[in-house]
Order: sequence, then structure tokens, then C-alpha cells
Amino acid sequence: MTAAISVENLTVRYGEVTALSDVSFKVTPATITGLLGMNGSGKSTLYASVMGLVKPAAGRVRIFGTSNGAARGSNAVAYVPQSESVDWNFPVSVRDVVLMGRYGRMGFSRRPRRADHDAVDAALERVGLTDLASRSIGALSGGQRKRAFVARGIAQDARLLLLDEPFAGVDTGSEATITVLLRELRAEGRTILLSTHDLGGVPELCDDVILLHRHVLFQGPPHEALTPDRLALAFGVRS
Ligand SMILES: Nc1ncnc2c1ncn2[C@@H]1O[C@H](COP(=O)(O)OP(=O)(O)O)[C@@H](O)[C@H]1O
Ligand SMILES: [Mg+2]
Repeated sequence: MTAAISVENLTVRYGEVTALSDVSFKVTPATITGLLGMNGSGKSTLYASVMGLVKPAAGRVRIFGTSNGAARGSNAVAYVPQSESVDWNFPVSVRDVVLMGRYGRMGFSRRPRRADHDAVDAALERVGLTDLASRSIGALSGGQRKRAFVARGIAQDARLLLLDEPFAGVDTGSEATITVLLRELRAEGRTILLSTHDLGGVPELCDDVILLHRHVLFQGPPHEALTPDRLALAFGVRS
């Protein structure tokens, strides 16, 4: 079976800083993989590399066996960035944000058709934001903003969803909504790679775990990843 993501010997540098060093892993289709590592361990850089938004010093990324550019072009991959990297003052409504997920399917005119509006309505419904659709994105809570971006990925109908810290700064209600949704998306055959600091939720949610610290310390099922020794390696503390 072709891997949803295949990363081979990836090294990424920002000037003098080596953010990722010889990173290799595969993500199996229709699974939820948790990407765990302390701040600065390279999680966001890994997302940017998988998307093709940063140029690696070495190594290669494949998405469903194609280049990341081809995967983006065919709407195979959706990316929900970390909240810190989004400009929340940008004057767009929740509906506009979700509609952005359809841009790649609209052609040059960017004029939404019936199918686009229907996909946006369905995605808003799934994340429970129908009533807030005309609100400005900046006026939402952290959890509602995350749900809006997840809805953008759903509207895009991507097979692979890359979620950078979907639970950070999120209230319990939104976390539960997102968790249920991710399980449904997996059941539909979609593949999810999510980074999180919420280790407690990992065994129930994730099929597979990658422990990252500039390179891959470990990849395997949650019960093997979340041992005291391995967590000490990844986070530098005993839990
Ligand atoms: N645009 C950038 N320019 C320079 N250094 C960066 C940049 N982005 C990240 N870094 C550095 O790369 C390392 C990994 O950062 P990052 O990928 O954001 O980790 P994480 O998401 O796990 O916190 C850190 O040392 C960080 O300071
Ligand atoms: Mg990050």
C-alpha cells in the first residue's frame, strides 16, 4: 500500500539552526498519527516541509506517492497551521475561511458554484459553526477558530489532513467536537497527522505516534511510545 506520507532523510536548516536532521517516517492511510515533541523540536517545520512550504537541505517528501506540489494541486492535502502563525485580524468571515478550502476546485474565476456552497454548509454543520458563519474569524474563541480551519480542510475534501496543535488554546467543548470529528474522518478513510501536547488524549485518539526531537526518536503505537523512558527522551522530563 502506498503511504499517505513518506519522508526520507529530511534535513531542514534555518541559517545556522538545524530544525530537522535526517528525519524518516511513513504514515499509513486511514490512520491518526500523533506527532509529539517539546517546543522547538521541529514539529511545525515538519508540517511546512511536508506541504512544501520550506525547502529542505536534503531528503524527500512524498504524499500518496506523488510530490507535495502535485498533492497540493490535486487537493489531496489540507493544512491547519498552528494558531500563532495565523493573522487573526485579517477581515474575513468564518464562511470565507471555509470557502478558501474550495479555491483549488473553483478554477481561475474563483466564483463559487452550488457544489462549493453546499460543501461549505456541510463542513460548517460538521464542526458546529453554522450559526457563527457570518462572524469575523477574529471574533471567535480559540476553539471556534480551530474548528473553522478544520472545516476548511473538510470543505476541501482532502484525503490527508495536517493539523498543527489543533487542541492548543481550545476549550473542552471544542476539543471534544474536534476529537469526534477526527475519528469520523478516519472512518471515511482520511489520514490525519496531528501535533499535540495533550498526551492524555493520545492513546484513545491515535493509532500511531512519532516522537520528534529534530530527528525521529521513536515511531510506534501509543502504549509503546508513551513509556516513561521514551517520554523522558522526548521531553527531557519524567512524567
Ligand atoms: N522561520 C524560522 N527561522 C529561523 N528559525 C526557525 C524558524 N522557524 C523555526 N525555527 C527554529 O527551528 C526550530 C524548530 O522550530 P519549530 O519547527 O517551530 O518547532 P515546534 O513546532 O516543535 O515548536 C526551533 O529552534 C526554532 O527556533
Ligand atoms: Mg510548532
